[in-house]
Amino acid sequence: MASILLAIHSLGFSILGLDPAAPAKGSAKPLPASALSDLRSQQFAVVPGFLTTEEVGAYREDVAKLRAEGRFKTAGIGETATNRVDNTVRVCEQCFIYPPQRHRGFGDDAARERLYATLDGVRDSLCQLTPLEPLLTEGLYAHYPNGGYYRRHVDAAPNNPSELRAFSYLLYLNDAWEPEHGGCLRIHTDGYGEDAPISAPESYVDVEPRGGTLVVFRSDTMAHEVLNTNAERQAVAGWFNRPVGGSGFRQTLIKGLGAAVALAALGKVAGGDK
Ligand code: OGA
Ligand code: MN
Repeated sequence: MASILLAIHSLGFSILGLDPAAPAKGSAKPLPASALSDLRSQQFAVVPGFLTTEEVGAYREDVAKLRAEGRFKTAGIGETATNRVDNTVRVCEQCFIYPPQRHRGFGDDAARERLYATLDGVRDSLCQLTPLEPLLTEGLYAHYPNGGYYRRHVDAAPNNPSELRAFSYLLYLNDAWEPEHGGCLRIHTDGYGEDAPISAPESYVDVEPRGGTLVVFRSDTMAHEVLNTNAERQAVAGWFNRPVGGSGFRQTLIKGLGAAVALAALGKVAGGDK
């Protein structure tokens, strides 16, 4: 039994190119201490200038190439059986970028390697708050057209694979954003989830999607939305998941097969993010 498990384990890593012992390429930067304390006290943190202008340019270039190569799809909403494109909730194109070998040979691989290293660094910092499973890191490039939006929602729902999401992250890639371009991220601080009662007093923070800004918030409690865009708007969006509970066998299997397969086995379908 142990040898079969070991075989599954190493097979999974070699097929998927996931070697947990491999050092992250590029520079992993930690979150500033102020971001961790903001997350503790208000469940969200905003870090302007987390990415350099040069990094923003490299990731924009990767997005442009991946789009030209047909790697983007219309973004859906909902999970698994209910996943669907719903233009009343979301108008956006997306390209999932995990597991890391997913688009190898497309776009700019070297740029994406730097992005993965940066996200590894963010996740390592967040582990000071909550244990996180590196192999269950999710991420995508989002491209909102002029006229795009994503209405109020919460990223993690109970009794659904998304319930493992502990933190949502966003990295904005808009190098020349101006207020008239719209598309701010509205983080609702009214304490309600997806549907706030009409009588609830409005309470929110609007974050400008300026190139280089990092936003992190708790996936289960913080309702948020993308306000209407009046220009194209690009971001990296994703989630850091908690370790999967359960038996040693289940955990070994999940780690061995890697994040993409694991999430599929848990009933999640690519494109089913919220
Ligand atoms: C998401 C999301 C916000 C943004 O993709 O779930 O809420 O600012 N994105 O792009
Ligand atoms: Mn969201």
